Amino acid sequence: MADVLLIDSGVGSLSISQAIYQHMPQVNQRCVLDTAFFPYGQKNELQVLSRVLAIVEQQLQHFSPDAVVIACNTASTLVLPELRQRYSTPFIGVVPAIKPAAQLSQTGTIALIATQGTVDREYTQTLINDFAPNCQVIKVAASSLVALSEQSVRNKPVTPEDCRLALRFLFEHPDFASIDTAILGCTHFPLLKPVLTPLFPSQWQWVDSSEAIARRLSSVLNEQGIKFREPKCSEGGVNISANGSRHAILTSKDTSLKEGLVRYGFSSIEMMD
Ligand code: DGL
Repeated sequence: MADVLLIDSGVGSLSISQAIYQHMPQVNQRCVLDTAFFPYGQKNELQVLSRVLAIVEQQLQHFSPDAVVIACNTASTLVLPELRQRYSTPFIGVVPAIKPAAQLSQTGTIALIATQGTVDREYTQTLINDFAPNCQVIKVAASSLVALSEQSVRNKPVTPEDCRLALRFLFEHPDFASIDTAILGCTHFPLLKPVLTPLFPSQWQWVDSSEAIARRLSSVLNEQGIKFREPKCSEGGVNISANGSRHAILTSKDTSLKEGLVRYGFSSIEMMD
């Protein structure tokens, strides 16, 4: 059995947590949803850096995970070097899936939908220069989409029109017609896929980092000698008796998230004052 800590500003943790659960249901997950400091995408770099360092430090005093996943593009594009320098625990970061998108795109025109912070990061531009040098990457800061994703987990319906408004810049972009691949560069966004993707041409390919993170985590755990057997399939599907636990920690009292977290498979929820 392995223990993993996930950290995000909010419900973005859930998209990564789900992918990990699908690959390795045996893993015990402890997910911090930093609701008290949400949203990270609108904070300056120093604020995000010091907040995430403080959360990690606080969590590692009580919990010794086999790996930590920074389940947030906005934070990962900033904090990983510092964390890796401070701790021997392996850290896995979620960054925009530029490389797979560049490999998939036929037209060479890609939309990167992310937070303002991620769009502005030097780290993001370096990824584009290194892995998509021959592509046009249209960066779209969609902070209101982050709020909509939070809303959807709180059981307040998000309409296609809400998403359309949040992505107005993309729809009105002069090169919209040549886009064939879109990157969901914020862990909140895969939660909105059912409402979001039907708004766009059906041939668009949608890329996010969650599957790759689950695979990376599996290999980081394997390197530590923690091996996972494939979940046993019986007539009823996956044998869930080998399930690990999923524990959510909210950094502010936020009862509106409770039902949503249960729906996403969390067995226990802790609220900090
Ligand atoms: N989920 C986060 C990300 O992947 C950030 C959302 C926010 O707090 O702005 O970037």
